[in-house]
Amino acid sequence: MSDHKITALVTGASAGLGAEFCRQLATRCEVIIGVARRGDRLAELVGQLPGEVEFHALEADLNSVEGVARTMETLRQKGPVDYLVNNAGFSTFGQFAELPIDRQRDMVSLHIDTTITLCKAAIPFMCELGGGHIINVSSMGAFVPGKGLAVYGATKSFLNYYSLALQAELAGTGIEVQALCPGYIHTEFHAEMQDQGFDKKRIPDEMWMTPGEVVAASLASLGSGRVLVVPGEGNQSVAKMGLQQQLDAL
Ligand SMILES: NC(=O)c1ccc[n+]([C@@H]2O[C@H](COP(=O)([O-])OP(=O)(O)OC[C@H]3O[C@@H](n4cnc5c(N)ncnc54)[C@H](OP(=O)(O)O)[C@@H]3O)[C@@H](O)[C@H]2O)c1
Repeated sequence: MSDHKITALVTGASAGLGAEFCRQLATRCEVIIGVARRGDRLAELVGQLPGEVEFHALEADLNSVEGVARTMETLRQKGPVDYLVNNAGFSTFGQFAELPIDRQRDMVSLHIDTTITLCKAAIPFMCELGGGHIINVSSMGAFVPGKGLAVYGATKSFLNYYSLALQAELAGTGIEVQALCPGYIHTEFHAEMQDQGFDKKRIPDEMWMTPGEVVAASLASLGSGRVLVVPGEGNQSVAKMGLQQQLDAL
């Protein structure tokens, strides 16, 4: 593997946190594979990447079997990957009983099925390389079961549990697993939720972070041995309160 280039695969690279992961990973990597449905947005990203990094845009719907299969194929051909960032995601807002089930099932498929499938594809190559980094983008919502976000929070809770268990299983391989659990971030994420009644203005200004701050916190935590990473002190307190509420419910 002497000619191996340090490589990252980032899902949901066309916007928000995923685009920022590409920008910040460009200083650590020689090759970045960015996956999303909007190819035009991936093309725009190329001009925003610092340095000499080689960028491969992969236009794929990660809610489709075909899109996931092409991503796995790219991972094999352009990899092995040193960084796998499972970031693509979305949320709806509303009472579960009233929301269309298809969009909820898509959320489970994208956040859970796609993530575990890409991890399964990447891990053998990382083992061969003697290490690697898997960042599963979860949410602070995983700690705080909240009205209007039942399936969203549950999928993120899955990612936390999965990441903790996976890290334990991979001990000694050099592979590091992180579940990144941000609070509110200024991205395009809330557009669909706002259409469904979520009011961004009700969230105090001090609770919002930028993608730059969140990604920097994630990458700074690599090597620390910490699996659950909650950027922002205020968010850590909220996460702990949410966990306490779950303990109190026992
Ligand atoms: N923003 C927040 O407040 C917040 C808080 C906690 C956690 N998060 C998590 O952070 C992650 C990134 O969200 P964001 O805030 O950056 O939102 P965003 O700006 O809306 O970006 C979402 C990304 O996911 C991609 N995506 C969505 N569905 C996809 C699909 N079927 N196939 C491929 N790509 C898909 C989108 O690309 P295309 O539309 O081009 O496909 C886009 O690049 C998500 O997992 C989210 O749950 C966000």
